[in-house]
Amino acid sequence: MKCLGLLCLLATGLSTLSVGAVVEGLKHKYYHRSCPQAEEIIANMMENFTSADQRVPARIIRMHFHDCFVRGCDGSILLNSTPVNKAEKDAPPNNPSVKGFELIDQIKEVLENKCPGVVSCADILTFATRESVHLSGKFERYQVRGGRKDGKISRESDALLNLPPPSANVQLLVQMFANKGLSLEDLVTLSATSDLR
Ligand SMILES: *[C@@H]1O[C@H](CO)[C@@H](O)[C@H](O)[C@H]1NC(C)=O
Repeated sequence: MKCLGLLCLLATGLSTLSVGAVVEGLKHKYYHRSCPQAEEIIANMMENFTSADQRVPARIIRMHFHDCFVRGCDGSILLNSTPVNKAEKDAPPNNPSVKGFELIDQIKEVLENKCPGVVSCADILTFATRESVHLSGKFERYQVRGGRKDGKISRESDALLNLPPPSANVQLLVQMFANKGLSLEDLVTLSATSDLR
């Protein structure tokens, strides 16, 4: 892989995250048999979304690490609040700064038509993040294992415990990234994916 500054670190940071989460049972080419075109479709759709709006890669990278910080990379950030449960998505560290949920929904819809019930949302978000890194800097794609199961639990309280609040100072940011095994460099790199525009 060509390494040119920040985005290389980003790829490193993101693989660290997936390793920290649920590497058990995850495999390269996981959908090779069950949905052979999955990764290609995700790549193609991400490219299309990005040519329509260049903010897309930053948004997806941010969504992914905010997902991984809370209950691992299980797609729990994608779940909606219900009348009795405020979900991660609506916690202040995520709402309104995390954007692009509708893009993941669109990819999921296409993949459900192709291979119903096969590709998890957690994997879609993880593959879409790899494409985002690729699209952001013309970096070669890094290898991503598949096989994540979608989480069914999504709680605002977990997001508040695991993600820095919008008001966090540097000391707290460094501490909360360190809690996830991420370095100061990872913090700086991932902070560049903040998109409040
Ligand atoms: C992406 O855009 C191209 C050109 O408009 C189109 O042919 C292709 O079907 C699109 N890909 C997907 C997966 O929607």
